[in-house]
Amino acid sequence: MRNTKKLYITAACAGLLTLGFTGSAFAFHSGGVAECGGCHSMHSPAAGGTFLLVGTDQSSTCLSCHEHAGDTGPSSYHISTADADMPSGVAPLQRTPGGDFGWLKKDYSFTVRGTLNTEAGETHGHNIIAVDKGYSVDTENATAPGGTFPSNQLACNSCHDPHGKYRRLADGTISRTGAPIIGSGSYNTSAAPAAGAAVGVYRLLAGAGYTKDGVTYNGVPAAKVPSSYNQTELTNQVRTAYGVASAGGHSTWSNWCSTCHPNMHSSGNMVHPVDQGLGSSVATLYGQYVKSGDMTGTAASSFLSLAPFATNSSDYTALAALAKNDNTALAGPGSSDQVMCLSCHRAHASGFEYMLRWNNEGEFITQNGVWPGIDNGASVQFARGRTEAEMRAAYYDRPATTFATFQRVLCNKCHAQD
Ligand code: HEC
Ligand code: HEC
Ligand code: HEC
Ligand code: HEC
Ligand code: HEC
Ligand code: HEC
Repeated sequence: MRNTKKLYITAACAGLLTLGFTGSAFAFHSGGVAECGGCHSMHSPAAGGTFLLVGTDQSSTCLSCHEHAGDTGPSSYHISTADADMPSGVAPLQRTPGGDFGWLKKDYSFTVRGTLNTEAGETHGHNIIAVDKGYSVDTENATAPGGTFPSNQLACNSCHDPHGKYRRLADGTISRTGAPIIGSGSYNTSAAPAAGAAVGVYRLLAGAGYTKDGVTYNGVPAAKVPSSYNQTELTNQVRTAYGVASAGGHSTWSNWCSTCHPNMHSSGNMVHPVDQGLGSSVATLYGQYVKSGDMTGTAASSFLSLAPFATNSSDYTALAALAKNDNTALAGPGSSDQVMCLSCHRAHASGFEYMLRWNNEGEFITQNGVWPGIDNGASVQFARGRTEAEMRAAYYDRPATTFATFQRVLCNKCHAQD
């Protein structure tokens, strides 16, 4: 029975890859609860598991589809790269806004001034526990920094509702019931729900009342993403249009993250502002900033997906118009647009420490016009054990020439201190 089911699912996933996934007959969650048998098996669940799941644990169940051995990626809904597809010196393959969990397995070591430094892969993001796929608990943080959520419980369903019950109704409010879900609400191509219908919330994220291991969410954050979101940014940027909260059941992005990190960068603490308008000086700098030493930019084409902001809107139609992957919506921020956690961090994992969108460990991110690598003569302290190709991959394949020959960290996109 189980083997038959697996075969069916594999075939469905392969179909998705070729046909695309929005509105396709091979969609799985379609914005809500998917076919039960994709995750549960009534009579032959995984040995040692719980809840009759097909994987040994919750995250392994999700990754039975969201990671695929033999991947040549980036591949649509894949958010993890199998070990065999990323040998030493080779970066994970996926380029999604959330990031590829494979970075958690990339340990780097390098010697600076006679001292051996180790950058553990586990510092690159959220260490979800997935026994079947080789992901294990973070060894440094017993709980979420700034909070109590236990690291040994961190799983996909700590953040995503596996049953996708949260839905956006026609009046814009979020609820767990009230109308049937007709499809995903995440994409720029997703239809707006008509009266009597609903769409799934952004990325099936956990919403108000969702309780896990001692924390309870207050609402879901608003955003829209282009339907092809997992792609190289060699030429085209993928813009996730993050929004702010207004209609019932919504949360800001920073409040959502603060469900588990209540004392991390939250307002009232002596830390970087979040959920705060950029103000006219920062917004103007963002529009002018091209790269270190070059402030000749045009605001209308200044967006950088390595330092995004939340648009001061919760109108999904407006957000959808910004969610593009063809460089047609690169307008920079206005003064009321906001800085938030995801301005600096990714949500899953990144190529860098603290899950940051760029390498913040040093003054330069490029050197002599190239991405620093152990194989191109760059300084050890900037390459930090990575090959040039790995470094480029961590910037989603952008050419180093996007930036200055000696580019400083991307805090400067908003602050221009360089
Ligand atoms: C995308 C994967 C996925 C799908 C599809 C899915 N489930 Fe689940 N289900 C889970 C996970 C993961 C858990 C464990 C939740 C936890 O750890 O708290 C679970 C738990 C449950 C539970 C235990 C109680 C609870 O609510 O947590 C029930 C009952 C359940 N699922 C029923 C269903 C039914 C019925 C369907 C089909 C309509 C379904 N599930 C589809 C992943 C899934
Ligand atoms: C049987 C294969 C399968 C399993 C198991 C599975 N997924 Fe998916 N997932 C897919 C496919 C296919 C898509 C893209 C089509 C869709 O969204 O229906 C997808 C899309 C998604 C999306 C984006 C949906 C949107 O509307 O934006 C999220 C988030 C997601 N999955 C999370 C999970 C989580 C969390 C689990 C485990 C609890 C899980 N998936 C288990 C196949 C699977
Ligand atoms: C700490 C919370 C958190 C955990 C844990 C988490 N996700 Fe996500 N996930 C998010 C958020 C937030 C987004 C939206 C990211 C964005 O658009 O910038 C997302 C996006 C996604 C997407 C859309 C593609 C992308 O990366 O943007 C998929 C698919 C997905 N998650 C599946 C999973 C699966 C499967 C797991 C477990 C292996 C998982 N997530 C664990 C928070 C989480
Ligand atoms: C369900 C609880 C939960 C949510 C929601 C959550 N986190 Fe975390 N986060 C954790 C836990 C637990 C850890 C510690 C374990 C680890 O680092 O893997 C952590 C660690 C981190 C780290 C440190 C990573 C490292 O390895 O140094 C950062 C940065 C972070 N989270 C940012 C975020 C951001 C940004 C969001 C919102 C998109 C978010 N978190 C949402 C639970 C959560
Ligand atoms: C302006 C950029 C920026 C913003 C915005 C930001 N962070 Fe951070 N965060 C950083 C940097 C840089 C670090 C690395 C350590 C440091 O400098 O404190 C970090 C570190 C962290 C850590 C790891 C702390 C540790 O002790 O290991 C967590 C967790 C975290 N951030 C969560 C968040 C959350 C949650 C939000 C939103 C509420 C957020 N960050 C907003 C830049 C930012
Ligand atoms: C998306 C834009 C954005 C990014 C990226 C960003 N900041 Fe900020 N930062 C702001 C805004 C907005 C403020 C508040 C307004 C102001 O002080 O000008 C701020 C304020 C600050 C302040 C002053 C805080 C105070 O209490 O006076 C410092 C210091 C700072 N940022 C450092 C950083 C560093 C370091 C980074 C990179 C790790 C960074 N910022 C990245 C937008 C950003």
